[in-house]
Amino acid sequence: MAHLSTVKHSSADWRKVKSDAIAVGIYDDLKLSRQLQGVNRELGRGLSNALAAKLINGKVGEVKTVVGKKGAIAFVFGLGKRGELNAETLRRAGGGVSKACIANKVDSVAFIMPVDGKENYFSQAAAEGLVLGSYQFNEFKTTDEDPFEMKGATVVGGHKTSVSKGAHIAHGVCLARNVENRPGNVATPTHIADNAKEIGKAGGMKVTVFDREKFTKMGMGALAGVASGTEVPPKFIIMEYMGGPKKQKPKVLVGKGLTFDSGGISIKPAAKMDEMKYDMCGSGVVLGVMKAVAELKPKMNIIGIIPSTENMSGDKAYRPGDVLTAYNGKTIEVLNTDAEGRLILADALSYATKHYDPEYILDFATLTGAVVVALGHVATGIMGTDEALVKAIKTSSKTTGEKVWEFPLWDEYIDQVKSRIADVKNVGAPMQAGTIAGGAFLKSFVGEDIPWCHFDIAGTAWGDKDLPYQNKGTATGEVIRLVVDLLGI
Ligand code: BES
Ligand code: MN
Ligand code: ZN
Repeated sequence: MAHLSTVKHSSADWRKVKSDAIAVGIYDDLKLSRQLQGVNRELGRGLSNALAAKLINGKVGEVKTVVGKKGAIAFVFGLGKRGELNAETLRRAGGGVSKACIANKVDSVAFIMPVDGKENYFSQAAAEGLVLGSYQFNEFKTTDEDPFEMKGATVVGGHKTSVSKGAHIAHGVCLARNVENRPGNVATPTHIADNAKEIGKAGGMKVTVFDREKFTKMGMGALAGVASGTEVPPKFIIMEYMGGPKKQKPKVLVGKGLTFDSGGISIKPAAKMDEMKYDMCGSGVVLGVMKAVAELKPKMNIIGIIPSTENMSGDKAYRPGDVLTAYNGKTIEVLNTDAEGRLILADALSYATKHYDPEYILDFATLTGAVVVALGHVATGIMGTDEALVKAIKTSSKTTGEKVWEFPLWDEYIDQVKSRIADVKNVGAPMQAGTIAGGAFLKSFVGEDIPWCHFDIAGTAWGDKDLPYQNKGTATGEVIRLVVDLLGI
C-alpha cells in the first residue's frame, strides 16, 4: 500500500513529537511568528538564514527544505497572504510536504498546524493532503532501483477527530486511485466486484453481484447489449450500507464501471486508446466513497451500484442500429456503440429507481469527450433535476475545492435524444451539446420524483492538474471528497 496508512495527531509541543522532520508554515509577508521564531531557534537560525538568502517566498503550494544544526530538517510550506488562509492551502501544503518527504527519503514528519484548535476543516484538509501526497502507484514496477515509501505523519495542533476523518476520506481516494490506475487486463469487472466485497466486509455492508446470465434474465438489456462483445465476465454490483434507521430513505450512488472502452464496432482511433482503461473511474468514485463510509461508519443509509463490463468489438458484439430494452422497459436505438456508458447506466438508474425509494441518486461517469472540450481538465460537468440538490453539490464543491460546473437539461435537449423507431437513441444532435445529450439520455431512466444529479468526470478523473496532492497523468479520485461532504458524514 503505497500511501500513508494513518495520520497521527498530537496536541503536545512540536519539540516533543518524535519524527524525522518537521513541517511549518510561513505567510508571504515572511514575518517570523512566535511559532516560527521557536522553530528558527531550534534550527540554529536556519530559517532566518534561508530567508536572508531569499530562498523562501511563502507562496501557496511552495515547500522548501531547510537544514538546521545537527542535521535537523524542516520543510517550510507557504501559506500565501496573511488573513486569506483556507483549507485548500493546507491540503496543498500537506501534499507538498509528503512529496518532499518522499523526494528526500524522510520517513516521518510532524506537520505543525499554523492556526490553533478550532478550525476543524483545516485539520481535515491537512491530513487529506498528507495522505494524498504520499500516494504512489508502483505495483507494476519490478526494477525500481530506488523505491521509497513514507512511514508516518503527525499533525501537531488542530483538531484530533478532523485529522482522522481527513485520513479516512483520503484512504477512500487512494483505494479508488489504485483500482483506476490498474489496466483493463487487471482491473476487470470481477476485480471491481472483489473490491466491493472487501469494502463491504470491512464496513458491514451487504454486497450482491449479478453475473451475465442473471442480469440478462432480469431484463438489463442495455448492459447485456454492451457486454455482448466481450468474454471477460461482466458484473452488476450492489453495495448496501444501512447505518441509519431502516425507514430512512437511502442515498444512491451509481458509477460507470467500463473497464476498457474500445468503442466497440464504432471503434475509437488508436491514439490515446490506452486511456480508456480509466473508463471505470465512475465506479472508482463509488468504491472510494464506500471505502470512506466503511471506515467512518456514518448513521445513514447509502447504496452503491456499479454496472461493469468492457466495450469490445467482434462477431458477438452489439451493432449500430440495434435496439436494446433497458431494465425499466424503455427501448433504446443504438446509433453509436461508443456511447456505451449511458447504456449501462440506464439499467443501473432503472434498478435504483425500482428497488429503492432514494432520497436522491447521483451518478458518476467518464461519459463524454465533449466535457473536456467544454471545461478542460478543470471542472466536472454536472446536471440534475432538483435545484436544492444541485445547490448542495455546488456548496460541497466550494468546501472541498473540487470544481463543478452546471449544464442545463432543457426540454430542447431531451427532444434531441428521442428516436424515430424506439423511445430514445444513444446520441444527441450531431456535433452539438454532447455532454448534455448524455445527461438528457440518462434522465429517461430516473424515476420522475427522484432528485438526481449526473457527474461527467471525463475531464477530471485522471490527471492533468499540477497539484501537490495529485500525481499528473494518473487517476485523481476527484469528486470523492465532494460526495463525502455532500452526504454529510
Ligand atoms: N468513455 C468515453 C468518453 C471519453 C472520451 C472519456 C475521451 C474520456 C476521454 C465514452 O464512452 C464515449 O466514447 N463517448 C462518446 C459519445 C459519442 C459517441 C456520442 C464521445 O464522447 O465521443
Ligand atoms: Mn465509449
Ligand atoms: Zn466509455
